[in-house]
Amino acid sequence: MTGPVPELEDRAIACAEHLCDCDRVLLASHIDADGLTSAAIAAQTLERAGVPFETVFEKQLDEDVIAGIAATEYDTVLFTDFGSGQLDVIGEHEDAGAFTPVIADHHQPADRETEFHLNPLLFGINGASELSGAGASYVLARALAEVADETADSGETVTAADGGERTGSSRCSSERRSDGGTATARTDNRDLAALAVVGAVGDMQDSEGELHGANAKIVAEGVEAGVVETGKDLALYGKQTRPLPKFLEYATDVYIPGISNDQSGALRFLDELDLDLKSDGEWRCWAALTSEEKQTVASALVKRAVSRGVPATKIDQLVGTSYVLSAEPVGTELRDASEFSTLLNATARYDRADVGLGVCLGNREGALERARTLLRNHRRNLSEGIDLVTTEGVTQEEHVQWFHAGDRIRETIVGIVAGMAMGNDGVSRSKPIFAFAEKSAERSSANQSGEAAEEKTDGDDEADEEIKVSARGTHSLVRKGLDLSQVMGEASRAVGGDGGGHDVAAGATVPAGREEEFVERADEIVGEQLS
Ligand code: C5P
Ligand code: C5P
Ligand code: C5P
Ligand code: ZN
Repeated sequence: MTGPVPELEDRAIACAEHLCDCDRVLLASHIDADGLTSAAIAAQTLERAGVPFETVFEKQLDEDVIAGIAATEYDTVLFTDFGSGQLDVIGEHEDAGAFTPVIADHHQPADRETEFHLNPLLFGINGASELSGAGASYVLARALAEVADETADSGETVTAADGGERTGSSRCSSERRSDGGTATARTDNRDLAALAVVGAVGDMQDSEGELHGANAKIVAEGVEAGVVETGKDLALYGKQTRPLPKFLEYATDVYIPGISNDQSGALRFLDELDLDLKSDGEWRCWAALTSEEKQTVASALVKRAVSRGVPATKIDQLVGTSYVLSAEPVGTELRDASEFSTLLNATARYDRADVGLGVCLGNREGALERARTLLRNHRRNLSEGIDLVTTEGVTQEEHVQWFHAGDRIRETIVGIVAGMAMGNDGVSRSKPIFAFAEKSAERSSANQSGEAAEEKTDGDDEADEEIKVSARGTHSLVRKGLDLSQVMGEASRAVGGDGGGHDVAAGATVPAGREEEFVERADEIVGEQLS
């Protein structure tokens, strides 16, 4: 790049130079779609640069996890999609000489700095809407390609991290030179833009219909490199894989009476269109329609929405920018950035980050099938979770609303459920929502367990006493002053926990039994922010 801002680019180059001089690196990343794509970008970058590495995934970077990392033999640890919020703890290990951190993250940083810290928020770029963890990793990937090329070309003397000198090239450049014949997009890492787009979409950075800011630059690079295609399209989930009736029935973000959540209504709507939307007797998917067919369905949908009194602002949301991964097969989850990201969440949030990483790295046989199985489970869990919240309702406080799922929703997806439930009956969009779930849920309960549960049966007494809280807001609340990262940090620490995240979405861990106190404190802080 041609980074989003020159200072971010300079910082990326510094991080890249350090990584190039490493004999090996420990790569640590977060267990969601953005964390997985971050790791996949970083892994391919290190691999192409010839820097040996090992990858680990963590649900949360807490003191114990960081201590565990410090106890490994690695001198350099590359953190992606987390690390900034824990810089205070990481910094102590750095001071003690345990390892040098390199961080590519977009979460709100703790009150501490380090040399190789790549975070959009340090450079005036919004980390919740303009650059994701995968985006930061992509900026690093582009810098690393540049650094490797320069060292390869110049044959200059490189000072290694251990103070010794290597002539000609760092470990980095020598391997890269043997890469000489591959396409430019690959050698300069621009092909990785596709994964960066999936990460950004996975973190809902396109929530106003399209990606913007630094993300938009990455999209442009991906388009140039031939790995991403964009276009105005229906902004509904499931364009590649959902048969048309399901595609329409399940699309509830813009609620269209008589179609949304209405199986026979959706079928009737399609039947009345006078198009042949089946192939071999099976309903086709949106992506398989011709542009004329899409046009016909879309206009009929808008017409129906208007006639049923759906407000114009809502109708506008029916159309958005779609991000297509052009190298992926039509009709698969991998072709649509949004479906791809959901597939990844379905792996990593169920202790199977290895499967999601395999898919990102191109393992299209074993890993993809496995991921699809996990996806069916994830979908069911989300839908049951949303039903639970909607039927049992949420508790309204003055400035916030909340529910406690106990062990009935897995803590790793309770935030997704809370976000998706907002706007449903009884769940307001004018207050942030706080969702509690037991941290031990995936170990002790058969509910929402996924297939990984059997593999993890070690009872952990401490974990039984911890509660996860996820918070979700809306962009309109953020414009009025809401900052959930601050709320989660402050309110959780007030009750002996810890947390952080973004203005619009954040999380925390609190001790069991302190939930109500936490809500009281959060209610106060949100009240102050919105006043
Ligand atoms: O850890 P990380 O930054 O990747 O997670 C961000 C989370 O915030 C995601 O679960 C994403 O779905 C959520 N989010 C949201 N609404 C937004 C932006 C992000 O719910 N507008
Ligand atoms: O991106 P995020 O993980 O927050 O997406 C929320 C989940 O909602 C996805 O995992 C996907 O399965 C589901 N999805 C859906 N229908 C929609 C939007 C999202 O099933 N309209
Ligand atoms: O887990 P959840 O999806 O609710 O996380 C929302 C955001 O808050 C994510 O960006 C996550 O990384 C962050 N978070 C955090 N500290 C925690 C829990 C979540 O920074 N203890
Ligand atoms: Zn992220």
